[in-house]
Parts: sequence; C-alpha cells; structure tokens
Amino acid sequence: MPIIKVTDMAFVRVRVPDLDRAEEFLKDFGLVRAERTASALYMRGTGSAHHVHVTELGEPKVLSLAFTAAQRDDLEALSRLPGASGVEEMQEPGGGNRVRLTDPDGNQVEVIHGMTTVQPVPHDVLPLNDANDGLRRAGVLSRHTRRAAKVLRIGHAVLMTGQSDTMVRWYREHLGLLCSDEVLAPDNHLALSFNRVDRGDEYVDHHVLLIEAGPKKGLNHVAYEIHDIDDLMLGHEHLRAKGYENVWGIGRHVYGGQIFDYWMDAWDFMYEHWTDTDRVNARFQGVVDGTIDSANGPWGAAVPERFFMHAHD
Ligand SMILES: [Fe+2]
Repeated sequence: MPIIKVTDMAFVRVRVPDLDRAEEFLKDFGLVRAERTASALYMRGTGSAHHVHVTELGEPKVLSLAFTAAQRDDLEALSRLPGASGVEEMQEPGGGNRVRLTDPDGNQVEVIHGMTTVQPVPHDVLPLNDANDGLRRAGVLSRHTRRAAKVLRIGHAVLMTGQSDTMVRWYREHLGLLCSDEVLAPDNHLALSFNRVDRGDEYVDHHVLLIEAGPKKGLNHVAYEIHDIDDLMLGHEHLRAKGYENVWGIGRHVYGGQIFDYWMDAWDFMYEHWTDTDRVNARFQGVVDGTIDSANGPWGAAVPERFFMHAHD
C-alpha cells in the first residue's frame, strides 16, 4: 500500500530573475494573475484552484512540483517519513498546509492540503460537428476572436532521470500513483513511464506524472489543460505572433491521446497546452512493453530532439 494517494497535481514552483517578463509569458500562455508580491507571482487558470503556477524571484531553477492530498491526515503520514518536513502552514497567498519531500533525484515535492479555492471563470465551448452528428452546433455560428488560449487547470509534469525504475517506484509508493502505460527502450530499460492518480472508479487524466529516462535529471515540461481545439489553435497563433519558441506541436499523443502544443519561455522552462486527453479510472490496464517509436503520434511532426532531450534543474 502506498503511504498516501494524491488526488491531483496542484502547481509547479519555479524561480526566474524577472517577474515582469515571467508574467508576460504566462499571460500570453493563458494564465491569469491571482496575486503578486515583491518576490513571487501566483497565476491561476479558469478553474477553482487559487493558483496553478508559482514564480519566485532569483536565479532560474525548478523549485518543486506540488500535488494535492485528499485529507489533512495524509500530510501527517508523510511528515513522519525520514527526510520529510513537518506539516507546515503555507506563508503565501492561497494558504493551506504542506509537507515537503525529496525524491530520489533530489527534486523537491510539495504535498498540499487546504489551499483556498476561488470562483471558476465561466467559459463558452462550442460543440463540434462531425460525420456522426452534424447538428451539434445547429444554428450556432463558429465565430472566434483572436486571443491567447485560456488555461483551465494544471494537468501533469514530466521528469527526466537516470534512474527511472527507482523514481517510478518512489512516486508510486509515496503518492499512490498507478501505472498507465510504459514504453521500453530497445535494450529493455524503462524509457517512459506514464502514471496517473488513483481515485478509484472516478475517471482521471491518463497521466499526472511521466518519468522519462535520459542523460540529465530535472523537469522536462509542465502541462496545462485548455478549453478545446479552437483554444489550442488560437493560443498557438497568439504565442507564435509574440515570437515565443514553439518546441513541438501541434500534434496528437499516442499515450494519453491529448492534442498538444509545446512552448519554451525565456529561461528554458517548457510548457504544454493540451486538450482532449484520454481519461481512465483505477481499473485501466495499459501496456507495459510499448516500443519507443510510439512516442510519435498518429499526426503532427515527429518528436524533435529539442523536446525529448530537455531537462531543467
Ligand atoms: Fe505532456
């Protein structure tokens, strides 16, 4: 049995030397300012989380990935582990409590509970017509205004590591993640391990954490769900017009099934827009011996080296 079962991803915490520039990129990416202090920026989506991204001021670094615990007792359980912090009151906007852990690669993990929730921002999504149902949008015109995408929520993170088996075991044992799909390299080592949260019968994103074997260690990317395919395309055009670097996309993934689009910020932190993920529950059993070629999707460009070799510490 795992120590606890986290219910979702909460936010990523990074550090960069220019909060104005960080906020400009994150707005162009589709996030909205929740709060800003002299030394930190908190950005939210249209969902109910107080924030889904934290930027602290300083030299560029990934500070932590944060996950949500179902109950306060889970924090107590984690705090009793060797090397864990105590249960701390979070001294920042959104409040709540947390425990800090360190994974086998030295990445900091925050498990939080009790953060303030906020009123979701309503959003219109037009139904799409297709060959089976050509009247979903009967009488409703598809007219769009050019704009940035709108982020709904944070979805997943990807960590590169030189010890994928150890890392995967640690996250499953500590946070209760379940194996969704795994891809083996030609020499049979674990190349990609997609893991989801365990909420029993409830359907959840195909993955909340992907462990990727590679020559570096650190964060490959953090991924945010946006509203729909038009939002993805509008966001793509907006980010391109602003001169940001498009790393990979638009395409559709095999594992997880998302339509994706990857962008780099000024400090080499990579962010993904996605929509239309596979959703599975605890009964799902994926493949555990997929081949690495399946990293390329059914459509869209092949995965570039800039993407799969990327890791930020
Ligand atoms: Fe992703």
